[in-house]
Amino acid sequence: MTKPLLEVEDLRVRFHLRTGTVEAVRGVSFHLGRERLGIVGESGSGKSQTGRAILGLTPPPGDVTAKRLSFDGIDLQTASKRTLRQLRGGRISMVMQDPKYSLNPVMTIGEQIIEAYQAHKKASNAEARDKALAMLEAVKMRDPQRVFSLYPHEVSGGMGQRAMIAMMLVTDPDLLIADEPTSALDVTVSMEVLRILDELVSERGMGLIFISHDLKLVSSFCDRVLVMYAGRVVEELEAKNLREAKHPYTQGLMRCLPTLKDDVRPLPTLNRDPSWAL
Ligand SMILES: Nc1ncnc2c1ncn2[C@@H]1O[C@H](COP(=O)(O)OP(=O)(O)OP(=O)(O)O)[C@@H](O)[C@H]1O
Ligand SMILES: [Mg+2]
Repeated sequence: MTKPLLEVEDLRVRFHLRTGTVEAVRGVSFHLGRERLGIVGESGSGKSQTGRAILGLTPPPGDVTAKRLSFDGIDLQTASKRTLRQLRGGRISMVMQDPKYSLNPVMTIGEQIIEAYQAHKKASNAEARDKALAMLEAVKMRDPQRVFSLYPHEVSGGMGQRAMIAMMLVTDPDLLIADEPTSALDVTVSMEVLRILDELVSERGMGLIFISHDLKLVSSFCDRVLVMYAGRVVEELEAKNLREAKHPYTQGLMRCLPTLKDDVRPLPTLNRDPSWAL
């Protein structure tokens, strides 16, 4: 077996607040190869904080510990700031949940993609510009030339999301962490973006962590799924076996999916058992 791209063991993220300690992630472990791994779970279950901790982007006053956190044999906990800077945005990229906070408001979309590219690759301005335009085209931006010179506040939410995806993919990362990357896109554009990610995984052997609360989307798009609940992984499944889920939370989620075949009305509500959070 080849060495996994990413190894996460007993990852914990805590926020020590005035009002007490919030344990956002409580002992998450998983391995990732060059495959598509989905992370699903309800709002607040710790999906984003898991992704951010891997990249060392936990917001203060967050505190991260792990028994092991390594990418391609590099220990991310002891790596120098310089190594982390090179990895981040270069070999590991993350599409954040809200592009509004990730795009620089005083730079045009094109300038930002060029900057991301030149920070990690040696390229002339003309080469970087061509690459940035090609990426905007790749994420199905209509009229890439025009979008290139727009500022983030001049594009729609979905366009901002695609600009982020273009910026994160321009350096050809080995691992992409995509946090709800298609939540602001309509179904057709969302499918296009997923197709691009899919191509990158199968053609270039990229590893992908796809964070979403959309169980159906994740099960159709990913190879493997982690189900999170209250900061823990409660179940890990092959995506195609989602119907055989054993954990009552996953089973409950599955029952809540409307189907065309049967008229399930009213849809069942999910009764959370306090013991799931222990
Ligand atoms: N900056 C912060 N300070 C304190 N607590 C935080 C902070 N960021 C997140 N948390 C807490 O961490 C927990 C997990 O948050 P996280 O953002 O990972 O959830 P999520 O699964 O991504 O949810 P969503 O589906 O809504 O994006 C939540 O209980 C949240 O209150
Ligand atoms: Mg989130």
